[in-house]
This record gives sequence, C-alpha cells and structure tokens, in this order.
Amino acid sequence: MPDKSSNAYHADSAHSNGKERDYVLGTHDAEVDRLNFQHSVWRSEVQQAWANAGIGRGARVIDVGAGPGFASVDLAELVGPAGRVLAAERSGRFLRILGEIAAAAGHRNIETAEIDLMTHAIPGTGFDAAWCRWVACFVPDPGKLVDRIHDALRPGGAAVFHEYVEYESYQLLPPSAPVRSFVEAVFESWRSQGGEPNIARALPRLLTDRGFDLRAVRPIALAARPSDRLWNWPAGFIRTNVPRLVELGMRDEAWGRAALDAVAAAERDSASIFVTPTVLEIIATKR
Ligand SMILES: C[S@@+](CC[C@H](N)C(=O)[O-])C[C@H]1O[C@@H](n2cnc3c(N)ncnc32)[C@H](O)[C@@H]1O
Repeated sequence: MPDKSSNAYHADSAHSNGKERDYVLGTHDAEVDRLNFQHSVWRSEVQQAWANAGIGRGARVIDVGAGPGFASVDLAELVGPAGRVLAAERSGRFLRILGEIAAAAGHRNIETAEIDLMTHAIPGTGFDAAWCRWVACFVPDPGKLVDRIHDALRPGGAAVFHEYVEYESYQLLPPSAPVRSFVEAVFESWRSQGGEPNIARALPRLLTDRGFDLRAVRPIALAARPSDRLWNWPAGFIRTNVPRLVELGMRDEAWGRAALDAVAAAERDSASIFVTPTVLEIIATKR
C-alpha cells in the first residue's frame, strides 16, 4: 500500500506535469456520467462476481483502472473499515472525482494511485483480490496488465475480470445499419489506440501463462426494450461516443446524425430491442 500519511500515490512520469492522461473514450463530464450510470445498471452482476470470488469483509482489493471509482466505492462498502481498496488509474481527473465521491460517502478505506499500468507497477503487494473491468480492452499490452496484477496479489489472491468476449453482439433489433456501422467504428477506434474489444478471448491463456489458475467463467449478455432502464446503457453509449468519434476525426457529422437518428427512432418503436455486447466474467487465482 502507498504511504499511509496520504491516500494518494503519484508515479512521477504517469503524472505528466498536470497534463490529463486521456483515453479513447475521454475523461469529460459526459463520460463520468456514463460510467456512473453504467455501473448502476451493472451493479448486481458486479456484486455477484465479487461474491463468486469470495471478496468480503476485511479484504484488501485493487480496483485496476478504476475510472472515477464507482466500483471502488461499492468495494469499500463491501470490505468495510478493516479492509482496504486501492484505486489504480491513469487519469488524474477521474481520481480527483473518485476522491470527492469517496469523501461524500464517508469512506476512509480508499487509496488512489495515479499510474499508467503499462509503465508502472501497482504500488504494494499482498492484496487479496483485484477487480478489473473494461480496462484490458484498452491497453496495448494486456499481458503486462496481467503481470502487474499478479505481482500485487498474494498467492491464492483472486483476479476478477469483466471484459468483452463478443462485442459484435451489440446490436439493435430489428437490425439497424447505422448501429452496425457504429459498432464497427468502435472496433476501429479502440484498435487504433492499441486496444482490443474482444480481449476476453485472449485472457484465459494470458492468465494461465502468467501464474494464474482459472477458477470460474460466466458469460453475461443482456437485452433491453426502450422502456427498460438498461436501454440507456447501449443507447447512451452511442449518444456519448458518436460526438467523440467525430471529435477524433474517425467519422463525419452526417454519419453521426444517422446513428443518433436510428437510436431515437428505435426508442419510439415498441418492437425495438438492444442486445448488449457480451461480457465474460473470469475469476483466476494466483498460484
Ligand atoms: C471504460 S473505463 C472503466 C472504468 C472502471 N473500471 C469501470 O468499470 O467503471 C476504462 C478505464 O481504464 C483506464 N485506463 C486505460 N488504460 C490505462 C492504463 N494504461 N493505465 C491505467 N488506467 C488505464 C482509463 O483511464 C479508464 O478510467
């Protein structure tokens, strides 16, 4: 764990003189709101994953690539005052928001480490568990990410992943060409920055080659109608990511309008269904 006199650890070269460490989806307010909503619709699956991995009171857990820390706060609640949560994240902006959320919730058992996981080790060793959701799909070297987690866990400690195994299952029914084109653009944008949407396909081998035993796997695929709260997860990602793809110069505004119009029209049609990208839950323990 980092220095107990402060709850924040900064790796100098990850801090980059106050320059924000952006990632392909951005770290702006709309992305923070999206991550908050996303966590709220996924919360029950996440709590199931933590229970499956045996994470409970008193555990010392790393939230790997924590973002603004919506899961970190739930983990802090789960492990209680005798436990500890270390939120390791590259974005200083996300970690400042995490600090505010943790303070508002009255959690004193969350520490932060502002690190780039590709260039820096997770500070500390002997952790009981690591939670890693939608991070391996964005890093250029997922094997290194697995090594970082391995180094920080105690023998027998659990690594719990929620990563996509079949991103192509993200679709609107009846089928929509603009939404299919949006999903293709997502593949392109993540890959252009060194990521891989379907990284869960590679994780089992990466884990067993790097000192882990696989314990459990569970696919999670969901579907939503326009009246369901969950609808806003796949629909909302299109609404926030279309402007981002245009801003990154990957697509033009007319393309963006077609995707947004398709979602708006589907929302008014009671026959519409959004099928979500399929996540694979993987639980592995350090040998
Ligand atoms: C989709 S967000 C997921 C955030 C959080 N795990 C959650 O489930 O809400 C991906 C996160 O990974 C972080 N990230 C991506 N590459 C990273 C790296 N090399 N080092 C540290 N964090 C990284 C991003 O900054 C972002 O916060």
